[in-house]
Amino acid sequence: MGDHPSNIYELRPVSIIRTLPQIKDHMLFQLKLEDGTTWDSFGHQPGQFIEVSIFGKGEAPISISSPPTRCDTLEICVRRTGRVTNALFDMGRGSTFHIRGPYGRGFPIENLKRYKLLLIAGGLGLAPLRSLLLYALDRKDDFEDIILMYGTNNPDNVLFKYELLSFFDRDDIKYLYSVDRDEEGIWKQYVGVVTGLFDRTTLSSDDTCAVMCGPPIMYRFVLQKLIHLGFSKEHIYMSLERMMKCGVGKCGHCAIGDRYCCMDGPVFPYTEIENIKEAI
Ligand SMILES: Cc1cc2nc3c(=O)[nH]c(=O)nc-3n(C[C@H](O)[C@H](O)[C@H](O)COP(=O)(O)OP(=O)(O)OC[C@H]3O[C@@H](n4cnc5c(N)ncnc54)[C@H](O)[C@@H]3O)c2cc1C
Ligand code: FES
Repeated sequence: MGDHPSNIYELRPVSIIRTLPQIKDHMLFQLKLEDGTTWDSFGHQPGQFIEVSIFGKGEAPISISSPPTRCDTLEICVRRTGRVTNALFDMGRGSTFHIRGPYGRGFPIENLKRYKLLLIAGGLGLAPLRSLLLYALDRKDDFEDIILMYGTNNPDNVLFKYELLSFFDRDDIKYLYSVDRDEEGIWKQYVGVVTGLFDRTTLSSDDTCAVMCGPPIMYRFVLQKLIHLGFSKEHIYMSLERMMKCGVGKCGHCAIGDRYCCMDGPVFPYTEIENIKEAI
């Protein structure tokens, strides 16, 4: 696992096993490799991404949303935004297209082991973080407590709703969630921005690693909170998103200071980017 047994430059044919609608214009696609092998042969890590390649439409980087511990299918959660994602949404069960990858630096699993995990997700940021979350739940002996904080803008926009609801029945994960607004007054949990959830639990900054993925504005406020709570900068990781083309460090589209988001990221330790002004 994680040794890149596949050739990352090679386009691999995949087919859609299932499509699971999430919220408006967001779909979970379950994929299988058309060459008959399982996803073990892909060798991905939580936090990595693939390039989805659709003939005549182009390519788009999409995070892998399933963990390498579940190799029967690879899952991606896609928001319909433009040429490639529209084409994907027009496909159904059994349709085929190509992918290449896995790309990028994922979450630092080895550094996270034996720590408590604080996962903070905003909106579609849950898609890559879910890969780490399910990995940690599958390998529970390697990790201490898991806390998930997830914020969306309103109650209609909760991704992976039923999976998240099932976490309330588990004692190996603490799940807190928030919505920015609840105009209809139907939300039973916290209403406010995701940082408000920090006041609803006790965190021990000495033995917890924080990992976040969401919109850039969220990072600024979550970072302030974490530093205020005494988290060491070495224990903070974040996944960044930039416009990408090649995905393999050749075109320069995804530059953040002297780093390439596609190769050096998308996951960065805070210590690596804190002095790069345009990073967050
Ligand atoms: C590392 C990485 C992981 C990603 N993971 C996912 C994922 O899991 N699910 C998902 O739905 N999307 C994800 N994206 C975003 C996705 O790649 C873009 O939305 C992509 O443009 C979609 O391609 P398209 O051809 O459908 O849209 P396009 O025809 O390219 O048009 C999309 C619109 O969004 C703009 N845009 C393009 N790229 C970005 C970007 N990175 N950020 C903000 N705006 C952009 C374009 O300017 C255009 O206006 C990820 C991006 C990166 C870099
Ligand atoms: S996307 Fe081309 S260098 Fe990163």
